Amino acid sequence: MSVEFKVLPTPAALAEAAADRIVAVARNAIRRRGRCVLALSGGSTPRLVYPLLASSPRVGAVDWSQVEFFWGDDRGVPPDHPESNYGVARAMLLDHLPGLRSDAVHRMPADAPDRVPAAAEYERTIRRLVAGDRPRLDLIWLGMGPDGHTASLFPDADALDERQRLVMPATAPAGTAVSNRMTFTLPLINAARAVLFVVAGADKALAVRSVRAASRELPAGRVRARSTLWLLDAAAAGASR
Ligand code: 6PG
Repeated sequence: MSVEFKVLPTPAALAEAAADRIVAVARNAIRRRGRCVLALSGGSTPRLVYPLLASSPRVGAVDWSQVEFFWGDDRGVPPDHPESNYGVARAMLLDHLPGLRSDAVHRMPADAPDRVPAAAEYERTIRRLVAGDRPRLDLIWLGMGPDGHTASLFPDADALDERQRLVMPATAPAGTAVSNRMTFTLPLINAARAVLFVVAGADKALAVRSVRAASRELPAGRVRARSTLWLLDAAAAGASR
């Protein structure tokens, strides 16, 4: 198990490094296993990365017909809502990928009327595609909030201690854009072949310091996959540079 941190000077350099890492992992998975099963991150940082993946040279570097797309979390809003993680990915990435198969895009149904059975159905979809008691996705891309949350695993949330379910409903703290959420749980995240954190902004520096001190106090600090790479911009790395 390896946890690596890389600091990039600017958000633009961070986005380039993230796009390169995603392409490299996808190409490697397709070469070795004939396909790549990955989960996209939510939040605003992916908006820096999607245009780089959706344009030359990187858009031509991956056989997108061999990629299955999931989400590590989403908000309880319709797909065309500005707060939808799926909606952002659809507009800024998926609609620009040559060869993408429509049946390979698995939107997380966080806006379902009853999220408990909807989460269980999403888990079944993952298990149908990826065998094993703990399905190993090829890549799970995550962000981190100033409070150390990742996906929709918030501090002190029940979902953090889940041991059985791989996907479950979640509730974001008061003051957050959308409270109804759905999220991957730690058993699924920590089973991944590779986890990529992409984190920008000075407001994340305290949480980054905690994670870099190997503390498990914050949700993101409890991510321990086979290969975990943290890409940070200088502001997020702050004093822990
Ligand atoms: C979400 C996310 C969440 C996000 C962090 C960082 O749906 O909100 O998945 O975990 O990654 O909050 O968000 P920013 O990239 O906007 O800083």
